[in-house]
Amino acid sequence: DALRLWGGRFASGPADALAALSVSVHFDWRLAPYDIAGSKAHARVLHRAGLLSDDDLAGMLAGLDRLLTDVESGAFTPTVADEDVHTALERGLIERVGPELGGRLRAGRSRNDQVATLFRMYLRDAVRRITRLLADLQEVLVAQAAAHPGAAMPGRTHLQHAQPVLLAHHLLAHVHAFARDVERLQDWDKRAAVSPYGSGALAGSSLGLDPEQVAAELGFDSSAPNSIDGTASRDFAAEAAFVLAMIGVDLSRLAEEVILWATKEFSFVTLDDAFSTGSSIMPQKKNPDIAELARGKAGRLVGNLTGLLATLKGLPLAYNRDLQEDKEPVFDSVDTLEVLLPAFTGMMATLRFHTDRLAELAPAGFSLATDIAEWLVRQGVPFRVAHEVAGECVRVCEGKGIELADLSDADLAAISEHLTPAVREVLTVEGSIASRDARGGTAQARVDEQLAALQSEIAAQ
Ligand code: ARG
Repeated sequence: DALRLWGGRFASGPADALAALSVSVHFDWRLAPYDIAGSKAHARVLHRAGLLSDDDLAGMLAGLDRLLTDVESGAFTPTVADEDVHTALERGLIERVGPELGGRLRAGRSRNDQVATLFRMYLRDAVRRITRLLADLQEVLVAQAAAHPGAAMPGRTHLQHAQPVLLAHHLLAHVHAFARDVERLQDWDKRAAVSPYGSGALAGSSLGLDPEQVAAELGFDSSAPNSIDGTASRDFAAEAAFVLAMIGVDLSRLAEEVILWATKEFSFVTLDDAFSTGSSIMPQKKNPDIAELARGKAGRLVGNLTGLLATLKGLPLAYNRDLQEDKEPVFDSVDTLEVLLPAFTGMMATLRFHTDRLAELAPAGFSLATDIAEWLVRQGVPFRVAHEVAGECVRVCEGKGIELADLSDADLAAISEHLTPAVREVLTVEGSIASRDARGGTAQARVDEQLAALQSEIAAQ
């Protein structure tokens, strides 16, 4: 006969169909170590409140330690009859210390405050692991930036050639996004570090238990100031799901570039053999599957977030069973990033950039036209006029099939009296890049500053 945590007021057990619908142990079992840690903390506050003798406490803690060992070794596993992780572990404890002592642990707590606490504990650990994985990726991107000093590439807007930039500047733009994601994870933790343990089912406990002591023992900053909010709120889960989805979206944007860069048409990069895949029919193929999976999994991470928000929307306070649906999407987001990030980092670490190709294309598409306009402004020409003149240069070049630097003195003079041959001093990629030297610009000195700042920021993560 299955051990149930309820039953006194029921004449019959649950229908099989209900049990099959209700069961969550196949996905909440990963909370088992946190459940046991919570039980040990709870046993101590029961003891402190005089509800467990010294011997009871010692027996309970020893039983819980044995249970943890058996959970970790696989000697104790949940059965199909265990509704959830809490049910399974109560059975495990009773099997180890007997029903008389094992039956005392549940006083003053509910699965509602338990599960809310354990989910936070699990997520706080998971977020720390993902933070470290993101630090690895940032280090790799910073190293790629540092390994290519002075390398220019075509900067784009609307995917069209816009202005030349340094490859390092472009790579560091992605690093800044990931650094903000890490900041979000760390900021999230301040709000997640509140323990719902002691909230009971929704109204708190009457047994003189100290929630602050449990919170401290479980590594939280404080206990929930409101037991209804403690058991019913899941914004901590939704906020984590958002940050995890944002990481997915940031990965996906870089992934999309890698996919483009690896095409024959771009030929900006070559993927390492160990981080690309072949085709079962086309022998020549080398595919950017990691980048594509990153792009695909970003959709899944966004789906997990929106699914969870849809679950929460419209739920009255306090606990509702709908809340059991909170865990799978968030677990999936964690699992997804834990498998994606190492592969993505490996792909970026081993990516080879073709700097000659990048440099060759940096001035293409008349990407120095803005430099002509800004040179004219420095000669005192109003920008409106300068813009027209530079545009005219592009038009003439297009007509003649030449580049801006190929315009003759006569061409320049014919376009505008302001265009002297001295304009050619800005018609190089190096000159263009070096001239954008205000804070945030692509000039090498500014990029070096970013690099140093990001390196110390990542080291402090
Ligand atoms: N398994 C539930 C959850 O994940 C916790 C149990 C609370 N169940 C209940 N009937 N109050 O939310």
